Amino acid sequence: MREMIAISGLNKDYSGKKVVDCLNLGVAQGELFGFLGPNGAGKTTTIRILTTLTKPSSGRVLINGIDVARDPASVKSEFGVVQQHLSLNRDLTIAENLELHARLHHLASDDRAKRIAELLDYVEMADHADYLVDDVSGGMKRRAMIARALIHRPKLLFLDEPTVGLDAQTRRRVWDLIRKMNLDGTTVFLTTHYIEEAEALCSRVGIIHRGKLIALGTPIGLRQKLGMIAVEMQTNENGTEYRYFPDRALASEFIQRLHGAERIVMRESNLEDVFIEITGQKALGD
Ligand SMILES: Nc1ncnc2c1ncn2[C@@H]1O[C@H](COP(=O)(O)OP(=O)(O)OP(=O)(O)O)[C@@H](O)[C@H]1O
Ligand SMILES: [Mg+2]
Repeated sequence: MREMIAISGLNKDYSGKKVVDCLNLGVAQGELFGFLGPNGAGKTTTIRILTTLTKPSSGRVLINGIDVARDPASVKSEFGVVQQHLSLNRDLTIAENLELHARLHHLASDDRAKRIAELLDYVEMADHADYLVDDVSGGMKRRAMIARALIHRPKLLFLDEPTVGLDAQTRRRVWDLIRKMNLDGTTVFLTTHYIEEAEALCSRVGIIHRGKLIALGTPIGLRQKLGMIAVEMQTNENGTEYRYFPDRALASEFIQRLHGAERIVMRESNLEDVFIEITGQKALGD
């Protein structure tokens, strides 16, 4: 399948510190790709480079075959981006925010009103078109930002931490919207430090740590590499230790041979186990 994003040998230094370190990555058309990493890993910097906002120190990025560095003006029509921090204009209503963006993207005047109505309907906010930004909930602000990013019908959408700060129920609603957009044909590249978000949504994930891509694959493929079954052993001396096994039979055999563990739990492994094994740390809070 054609590559929507092709990144080769990408580097970014800030005052000698490598923030993106020799990144090579391809994302196919139609994928829902998750870029997972702890705070400060380099996720936002990568998105900023992919969306022309930051210049890389070296390396090359193609978006839908267009070189980002050589042709920033035409590449901008290929993608939409929802930034990590709230970037709606608080002096305007939700509909006016979309209107402003539609004008920036040179949508024809007879197309604008129709497109805004269609998008507000799509993100289930038609009733809130005339609300000021501060008068809608956090989840609605996020959905409005997504609607705004889709105004020019991009084939690719970047979402930087799309559910940060949202409660569990609202987060699921945003997940549904992301799935719907992907099913409707939009390639999605999202960043998150919520492992369960990557596991729930993404067909493939890349784990970035200190600027380096340290794992890449489907959530299940990464778990299989580690072992589908986890055994947690709580001991008095060493706290909790973890071991991974391909199946329950092998895990049970191991447990039977164990002596001295206070508490033993057998469970399915998850992406968090993969993350901790390869980084030696929890995803949240570097
Ligand atoms: N403009 C800048 N100047 C100097 N250092 C920067 C700049 N932007 C980012 N950094 C540094 O680069 C590193 C990566 O930052 P980045 O924002 O890409 O991480 P992130 O993975 O998005 O983290 P978070 O999960 O907190 O959003 C951090 O150490 C950050 O301090
Ligand atoms: Mg970030």
